Amino acid sequence: MAELLSKTKDSVVEALSQATAAVSLDSTAQPTSYCVDEASGNDSTGDGSPSSPYKTVAGAFIARGESITALVRQAKEEGESWEPASASAVKKAKKLYTQHQTKLARQEELKKKDELEGAAKRAAEAKKLEDAKAVILEEPTTPATKIKIKQAVEKRGERVRIFGWVHRLRQQGAMIFIVLRDGTGFLQCVLTGKLPQTFDALTLTLESSIQITGTINELPEGKTAVDNHELSADWFSVVGKAPGGDEAFLNKVSEDRAPDLLADARHLVIRGETVSSTLKVRAALLQSFRAAYASLGLLEVTPPCMVQTQVEGGSTLFAFDYYGEQAYLTQSSQLYLETCLPSLGDVFCVAESFRAEKSHTRRHLSEYTHVEAELAFLTFEELLEHIEEVICRTIDGVLADPKTKALIDSLWPEGESFTPPSRPFMRMDYRDAIKYCNEHNITRPGPDGTDGPHVVGDDIAEAAERKMTDQIGKPIFLINFPKEIKSFYMARIPGDEGFTESVDLLMPNVGEIVGGSMRMSGLDELMEAYKHEGIDPTPYYWYTDQRKYGTTPHGGYGLGLERLLAWLLNRFTVRETQLYPRYTGRCKP
Ligand code: 4AD
Repeated sequence: MAELLSKTKDSVVEALSQATAAVSLDSTAQPTSYCVDEASGNDSTGDGSPSSPYKTVAGAFIARGESITALVRQAKEEGESWEPASASAVKKAKKLYTQHQTKLARQEELKKKDELEGAAKRAAEAKKLEDAKAVILEEPTTPATKIKIKQAVEKRGERVRIFGWVHRLRQQGAMIFIVLRDGTGFLQCVLTGKLPQTFDALTLTLESSIQITGTINELPEGKTAVDNHELSADWFSVVGKAPGGDEAFLNKVSEDRAPDLLADARHLVIRGETVSSTLKVRAALLQSFRAAYASLGLLEVTPPCMVQTQVEGGSTLFAFDYYGEQAYLTQSSQLYLETCLPSLGDVFCVAESFRAEKSHTRRHLSEYTHVEAELAFLTFEELLEHIEEVICRTIDGVLADPKTKALIDSLWPEGESFTPPSRPFMRMDYRDAIKYCNEHNITRPGPDGTDGPHVVGDDIAEAAERKMTDQIGKPIFLINFPKEIKSFYMARIPGDEGFTESVDLLMPNVGEIVGGSMRMSGLDELMEAYKHEGIDPTPYYWYTDQRKYGTTPHGGYGLGLERLLAWLLNRFTVRETQLYPRYTGRCKP
């Protein structure tokens, strides 16, 4: 290897490759000279060959040991050559090499110490747990009133008993802080004295269910907790312990999990603050709808979900065989509501509707909660005014409750909040919407993939409709759709028979939340409509009878509760506003 010194680059390559070849023949032989080039080398990725040199002599020593020869690239007039590093460079590098070795040894020492200390710590913890088993809590004999967390403010100062789930858990010195959740609220509880030393306290996990007793006290200035108070516990016991380790709650529901896994874990995800707040507002909204309907004199009915008729076209029907007869899950309760008018007057229902939607959009579900109403002896304009009234009363009712308002606010980003719609809602004729789209460059996707202008008769696509609604930025009653793109039962506009007395209510960011219309009231025109649609009138005999036995002008609408919630709560998709959403590919949990 001595003749390797002072050779040109090519000869070094050859010599080094011979050395490498020697290694492959004799696996114990190693090259003893390695190349270093300050300009092009790299101490981390280099291997010491001329094509991949180290950057420093110290780097070469660290990688190959200090007994090697470091060849440094020299640029000369006749070309370049690799020559042994100077004595001073070798000396400096050896010093760095020694420092490096010392550092490695120190690191190794620390690692061993950590391992030993870790083992000691684990042993101490195991002993602490073992000792904790001997700490037995006796429940005080003073009576405690069983309460829900929502009663906590009025029960301050009294000894109370509360059941709930461990929502948050924190050890601080000798104390343990628990934020307890029972569905009605959150309550900070503090374990002091003997309580945090028990086995149950030391092994407590998130989502364990517990019962706890003690006294709720207002917090002094400078301390914060929900409702500005906390329960000083005098006793507690675990009702059901939740797992820790890999099975721990947070491992199942962490936000960075794949959306599909989170959807599988929906039964756990609903325990989180965002979803539980959404579901609480959903309940408040339903209550408010019922109050609005009651105040407007509509009666609630509960139509069937298993039916033998379609309402909104055959393509989205969920069909099944019911005792040898064709049956469907209902798309809408409208036809049944219509039959109630002569019996009960104006009616409404809150029922599940089912659509075998193939569309994978953020506003379509296969099952959704449909708020529907039907009213007799009214005009189209009166129907529009009624829809506006119901929506505004319902929203006002929800916002008037401070607790619900706080939940709604918590779901909006900092500095933003829900803006209630101003009245009257804008009315826009379908033909004006077509004009609007064309004037604002909102195009229609053509069958050949190229976009073109909208023409009267088009079913304005979801994307175009949303673009228009977002540009206008407020609720729009889009009215008077062509009959070809609407359902068979819709009343025609007198004198403009190609169009219908129909309405879609469009909301910014969400799109259509309501679909409604006046209904045909004449028997002959209904029979003609069945025929035109290719519907066999036989199973519709009961619906047809409404036109025989005292027909009336009447109209109604359906509202998708999940879409209204998406608008109210600033949610991206209706999948977030249903308890257990169903959509293509998802029917669990
Ligand atoms: O416009 P649609 O199809 O109208 C009807 O079903 C009428 N029969 C209602 C009536 O007049 N009684 O649906 C009404 C509303 C839509 O505006 C939308 O909010 C909601 O129901 N909706 C859906 N929501 C979620 N997922 C789906 N797949 C939906 N399809 C309709």
